[in-house]
Amino acid sequence: MQGLIRLVYFAGILASTYASASVIWDGRVPFNVTNADLDTSTGPFLTVVKGSENATHYNHLLGHSKIPTPLWNEGLLQLVPREQVISVSIDNSSVFIPGGGLPQFGFRRTDLIAAVNGEHTELITRMEQNTTVFHFSIQKNDLHPLNYSHEYQIVFIEPNDGSHVFGIQLGSPFTDPTGPLPDPNAHSFKVLDHALNVLFSTPFTSNTWHNFAVEVDWNARTLAVWYSEDAELLRLVKAATPNPTTALGPDGQGDFHIALLKLPIVNPADSPADQGDVVHHGIQEGTTEGLFYSGVFVESAEPQGVSKGFGIRGTA
Ligand SMILES: *[C@@H]1O[C@H](CO)[C@@H](O)[C@H](O)[C@H]1NC(C)=O
Ligand SMILES: *[C@@H]1O[C@H](CO)[C@@H](O)[C@H](O)[C@H]1NC(C)=O
Ligand SMILES: *[C@@H]1O[C@H](CO)[C@@H](O)[C@H](O)[C@H]1NC(C)=O
Ligand SMILES: *[C@@H]1O[C@H](CO)[C@@H](O)[C@H](O)[C@H]1NC(C)=O
Ligand SMILES: *[C@@H]1O[C@H](CO)[C@@H](O)[C@H](O)[C@H]1NC(C)=O
Repeated sequence: MQGLIRLVYFAGILASTYASASVIWDGRVPFNVTNADLDTSTGPFLTVVKGSENATHYNHLLGHSKIPTPLWNEGLLQLVPREQVISVSIDNSSVFIPGGGLPQFGFRRTDLIAAVNGEHTELITRMEQNTTVFHFSIQKNDLHPLNYSHEYQIVFIEPNDGSHVFGIQLGSPFTDPTGPLPDPNAHSFKVLDHALNVLFSTPFTSNTWHNFAVEVDWNARTLAVWYSEDAELLRLVKAATPNPTTALGPDGQGDFHIALLKLPIVNPADSPADQGDVVHHGIQEGTTEGLFYSGVFVESAEPQGVSKGFGIRGTA
């Protein structure tokens, strides 16, 4: 009987976590969303930033075949997951051609952009005011590993000027000329502020959900970072710190990207100008590489603070 009461209690907490009024946008993909929906940007992701193949060539919803981060999916007693893990990959065809622009031959990229059935402009204004929290959990795809001699930009908010309000980086930061590779810290996540200062770094270990939350105060222009592994509650790993180089207002707002964006290595055969043009030039091996994502959502931090997992919220 005790067990049943606990089960009902935790199920109730979980239901309230999911339905919570603080959630502004939810990218935790329910089981009624299909791969075909990804191709048409139906549901929580706009899938147009990718190579020449259909979105489902690069992105897959994994149904019940892989367990998502426990933070929003289980109680103390095991419960049925409420979301599908998303597999995101790149290969040599992952050359994005922006509307009216040149093919991005320097990059290989697949991006999932926060949206509601394709709408993302109005969503940006709702997700990026007052203090909001960007949640995401990342796991390695050991069948399709990254190449840590390259730089990867994997989660970021990108205003129109191409800068990032914050960003998650893996691998060896791109340099021209190329430095020693791989960088000693290449196998760690780096949480970067707008000016590319490292706010937090932690090793990207296998078979582990790495849970992040980045708390953005859009008025005071600060960032705070929360982190945990698997079923641990999120904990504050970097208290609110100034992010003064971001613009206030619409110029500082942009799309929320969940991505796998691989930068090139400088090609010595290119002209000096082209060597610095990471978007259009450089060496890519064209390998198939991937990451897994779950637990992606955006919430308001007001008035209860940050969701730390299992229905618990707080400010530290
Ligand atoms: C999935 O179910 C939710 C909740 O019932 C509903 O709001 C949503 O429209 C459904 N999505 C699809 C793609 O059917
Ligand atoms: C994309 O999917 C559509 C519909 O399934 C199909 O007709 C088309 O050939 C696909 N395109 C590519 C590039 O695979
Ligand atoms: C990879 O893509 C680039 C750009 O389209 C192309 O030049 C190159 O030949 C491709 N490499 C392989 C191995 O297919
Ligand atoms: C943002 O803050 C303003 C001023 O305190 C408040 O009026 C507004 O309701 C807040 N918006 C959200 C979405 O919390
Ligand atoms: C990783 O990238 C480096 C630098 O471009 C390259 O030398 C190496 O061959 C790549 N490794 C694989 C497995 O593609």
